[in-house]
Amino acid sequence: MANVAVIGAQWGDEGKGKVVDWLASRAGIVVRFQGGHNAGHTLVVGNQTYKLSLLPSGLVRGKLGIIGNGVVVDPEALLAEIARVEAQGLKVTPESLRIAENAPLILPLHAAIDRAREAARGDRKIGTTGRGIGPAYEDKVARRAIRLADLAEPETVAAKLDELLLHHNTLLAGLGAPVFEKQALFDQLMALAPRVLPFAEPVWERLDAARRAGTRILFEGAQAVMLDVDHGTYPFVTSSNTVAATAAAGAGVGPGTVGFVLGIAKAYATRVGSGPFPTELTDATGALLGERGAEFGVVTGRPRRCGWFDAALVRQAVKVSGIQGLALTKLDVLDGLAELKIGVGYRIDGELFRRLPAAPGAQARAVAEYEVMEGWSGSTRGARSWADLPAQAVKYVRRIEELTEAPVTLLSTSPERDDTIMVRDPFEG
Ligand code: IMP
Repeated sequence: MANVAVIGAQWGDEGKGKVVDWLASRAGIVVRFQGGHNAGHTLVVGNQTYKLSLLPSGLVRGKLGIIGNGVVVDPEALLAEIARVEAQGLKVTPESLRIAENAPLILPLHAAIDRAREAARGDRKIGTTGRGIGPAYEDKVARRAIRLADLAEPETVAAKLDELLLHHNTLLAGLGAPVFEKQALFDQLMALAPRVLPFAEPVWERLDAARRAGTRILFEGAQAVMLDVDHGTYPFVTSSNTVAATAAAGAGVGPGTVGFVLGIAKAYATRVGSGPFPTELTDATGALLGERGAEFGVVTGRPRRCGWFDAALVRQAVKVSGIQGLALTKLDVLDGLAELKIGVGYRIDGELFRRLPAAPGAQARAVAEYEVMEGWSGSTRGARSWADLPAQAVKYVRRIEELTEAPVTLLSTSPERDDTIMVRDPFEG
């Protein structure tokens, strides 16, 4: 029996929420290990739709949720999200949610810096979610972050605020943005402390005990490999490592505990924010995919850019993240299209590449090379077995497997949890 790590294999929004929810029903613990409330996971359970940003998806299934040290936690956003799901009837208590005591906090000044810097970038903006994710990770690496456990030590908070404000107010003033005042921030953090500290603990100890007891652990990734700060389309990326290896460092377990790596990929491609997207469709087909796939950001509400499935890019994600199986989602969005294209590589300045090179200029000039396939006329929506799928749809899936060098181990055919074809149970390794 293995544990499972679920990560996005494209640019995020692959439908991880549904797959994680489905797998959570088979797990004992669900752990978030990177990112913050920039993520947006939509879960449809019966007639309720939960939109989660920071909370581990397993909470909806009554599973213990853990927020690991690799996550940047905005305490205000956390409490607001808890209040939101509680209004939908889901109770979140220190019995159902534990947060790593060494998780760094996102403060209001981080969101202010994030937005001021994006505004200053003008045309070169990254298209961040404006939630302060990048600046919070920068503070962590710069060794000045306030961490959850610090809230129990007012003197530590006060000293760190001095260092933080020296740095950030200088920057904010330079960008012409309002500066922050120490006392107000201190008071705010002290008021939050008794509300969030009950969730804090050394989660590595609990995870170690769970591992020894054979409790199944599901590691829930956020964002996706092409937004990874090292392996993604830098600088148009998020500020954390999103690859599966991060699950170990971001939760406090050994690499062997991470288990089976399941990559989620949409049957086409989408991206929010700026940056290269070689298979992007800016025509009527792109608009159709966006409309049918309801491609709007959960966090930002921004329409997502849409395009053809880029097998070269997903193959790259498979390799750098050690993806052992793909969960393919939203195949039904392609139903009825006469012709489908799959990106198989890039032509850059006349030269053919099977991978996306690292230099941003080359990425921007990359023109997708396609393989063209016939579409299918039947419906794949709600299919629960291969036999329910049109033959041409099966061919499309098989071609994706060949080109990405990864088997499709799950196929999701509608937002409903049970509309899933399981080829192989990831928990069986
Ligand atoms: P940040 O994570 O807010 O710094 O944004 C950096 C980039 O990652 C931007 O292009 C965002 O649109 C993108 N991004 C962040 N979180 C998500 C997500 O959950 N889904 C898709 N894109 C995301």
